[in-house]
Amino acid sequence: MLDKIKDIRAEAENFTTKSIKELEDFRVKMLGKKGLITQLFSDFRDVPNEQKREIGKLINELKSFVLEKLNQIKNESDSDSSVDSNLDLSLSGYPMNFGSQHPISLVKYQLFDIFSSMGFSIAEGPEIEDDWHVFSSLNFPEEHPARDMQDTFFFESKPDVLLRTHTSSVQVRVMETQKPPIRVICPGRVFRNEAISARAHCIFHQVEGLYIDENVSFADLRQTLFFFAQEMFGKNVKIRLRPSFFPFTEPSAEMDISCNLCGGKGCGVCKYTGWLEILGCGMVDPNVLEFNNIDSKKYTGYAFGMGIERMAMLKFQVKDLRLYFQNDIRFLNQFKSVL
Ligand code: DAH
Repeated sequence: MLDKIKDIRAEAENFTTKSIKELEDFRVKMLGKKGLITQLFSDFRDVPNEQKREIGKLINELKSFVLEKLNQIKNESDSDSSVDSNLDLSLSGYPMNFGSQHPISLVKYQLFDIFSSMGFSIAEGPEIEDDWHVFSSLNFPEEHPARDMQDTFFFESKPDVLLRTHTSSVQVRVMETQKPPIRVICPGRVFRNEAISARAHCIFHQVEGLYIDENVSFADLRQTLFFFAQEMFGKNVKIRLRPSFFPFTEPSAEMDISCNLCGGKGCGVCKYTGWLEILGCGMVDPNVLEFNNIDSKKYTGYAFGMGIERMAMLKFQVKDLRLYFQNDIRFLNQFKSVL
């Protein structure tokens, strides 16, 4: 009996744990219905009378020792926040979901970088505009069919107020407040009354460029746009300028880049021409300079305008314009690695 008590005492003294479960197992093993100490108490009946005093004392001391030990370990684990039976430290951390930049923003900021490296600054203007800034001062005569090139949202109650159809209106606002030399790009949202489809939307983004100074030439325009195309689409890109018409530029052109998918050989994306249209441009019409009190005998300028959605479609091979507006996380997540 004495040996038994000694063994149990030694076991209790050596016991240590940080786990609530192991602590409870230990309690049951010692003090449960069939526990070792409970067993000692029932065996006590058979102890000869002359030893009862000594052995009874030892069993009681053992019981108090175990109770105290149980309490002590429990208190320690309560104050130690790292011990939590539900906490599994071997689990890996939750995957953190970082956001990503929208493809339109990615292209917009890249455009900012490219043009600011050439000395352009950024100018912005209002989305709700008047006829003068969107059309008349840009040399669209009243009732001229050129106005139909851009289907406009007008305000019913205010015939002169409209949503801008292009960011060329911001060039006018810049010319009103700044004297040449002027070198700006004007990013922003534009609005056109068009049915929404894979290739058209009633809201989209443009960046307009304007450079006015003495002796600005078409060669300057061409070289600026060539540099831009190389930065945006890679050093191997080729450009070509085709004659076109815009009321605010003369001469006017549209610029194509060699198809970045097939390298100019011809494919479905470039409709087997090897070329992709990316922007409109030209020399600022002297009328536009004069409308804005800039001496067209002294100054010349060039302007260009491009759609950011189109640029992003070509860069990232996006086939449907509507994807830019749907905020589908599966679409947006694909741009995480692009910077
Ligand atoms: N504003 C034109 C459009 O929205 C784009 C454009 C073409 C802008 C030629 C220009 C330019 O500055 O010179 O279709």
